[in-house]
Amino acid sequence: MGGMGLKVGVYGGSGYAGVELVRLLAGHPEIGALSVASRGYAGLGIGEVHPQLSVDGTYVSPEEIEDLDVAFVAYGHGESAETVRELMRSGTHLVIDLSADFRLPHEELYGEWYGEHPAPELLMEAHYGLPEVFGAPAGRLVANPGCYPTAAILALAPVVRRMEGIRSVTINALSGVSGAGAKPSVKTHFVSVNESAGAYGAPRHRHTPEIETILRRVGEVPDVTFVPHLIPITRGELETIVVDVEGVPEAEEVLGWYAEDYEDWVFVEAREEYPHVAHVANTNRCRLSAAVDSRAGKLLLFSAVDNLLKGASGAAVQNMNLALGYEEDLGLEHLE
Ligand SMILES: NC(=O)c1ccc[n+]([C@@H]2O[C@H](COP(=O)([O-])OP(=O)(O)OC[C@H]3O[C@@H](n4cnc5c(N)ncnc54)[C@H](OP(=O)(O)O)[C@@H]3O)[C@@H](O)[C@H]2O)c1
Repeated sequence: MGGMGLKVGVYGGSGYAGVELVRLLAGHPEIGALSVASRGYAGLGIGEVHPQLSVDGTYVSPEEIEDLDVAFVAYGHGESAETVRELMRSGTHLVIDLSADFRLPHEELYGEWYGEHPAPELLMEAHYGLPEVFGAPAGRLVANPGCYPTAAILALAPVVRRMEGIRSVTINALSGVSGAGAKPSVKTHFVSVNESAGAYGAPRHRHTPEIETILRRVGEVPDVTFVPHLIPITRGELETIVVDVEGVPEAEEVLGWYAEDYEDWVFVEAREEYPHVAHVANTNRCRLSAAVDSRAGKLLLFSAVDNLLKGASGAAVQNMNLALGYEEDLGLEHLE
């Protein structure tokens, strides 16, 4: 990699995750050259399309970018894989994919939930980029986790690691509308979501198999019930997780597990106070808490993240930092 700073490219730089990436990467001290591709806006000034960004430069078409050290791919699932394959073939040192294309380990499982996989030969090569659970990414391809799985796995991994006999896991999740991406739809239209709230995607939301398969690398977990809800806020997610387990631990004990497991990681923190979306919005934090419903004999876990930062672009930059041997929060200090 060059001595003049990293050559970094963003594919899909006009979507919600892409814009957030551009904002973060434009201020990253190790980046020498940033190219931002957009299929829809190539040729237009980035600040012209997104006046909220004070970033110089012009969107280019994806074919115009070459010789990258690091590439971020922020396309939808199914679309990302082809671009990732090309980048891997052309020798890009590190490829970080924000879509779901490389998060599930098997072609069959991907097929069951998403359809035919466009680049199955790369599935085994991908490292699931949740460093607080699996360490710094190894290898050239990082599958950046989904937003809901980030919040769920960070809350559940310390419990699953230590407890046998988990009978059920029920995740109730609330999400802001940016989680649905920039493409307009009837379901995410202002009038459909404003002054309202409702469940969607249950019981087969596509993040369900991601939560299950990734948690099973840590310990035994039954199939998970995952119920997301759309609420009328722009960004942020909150999960309330009900765990039915033999020998429910004390809440203080669970908070102690969180403190122990996440001691060396700056962005994950447990507190007695239940997390709110506003405690994490516009940050790269995941805030956790725990309580026990002793009457019903259940463990309650609470987890909040900003879907666009710790749930997507903030985590992607954190993964780049760790994969390249920098501090995890380089260029992200303002989001702690
Ligand atoms: N949103 C989240 O909270 C979140 C969280 C975690 C992971 N992800 C994943 O990250 C990837 C990108 O997500 P996203 O939320 O950024 O998706 P998005 O906003 O829908 O953007 C995806 C791509 O669609 C194109 N696009 C942008 N605005 C558009 C519009 N108004 N109409 C039609 N196309 C438009 C852009 O392509 P060009 O730039 O090439 O023109 C953009 O890069 C997805 O795989 C998603 O699952 C998203």
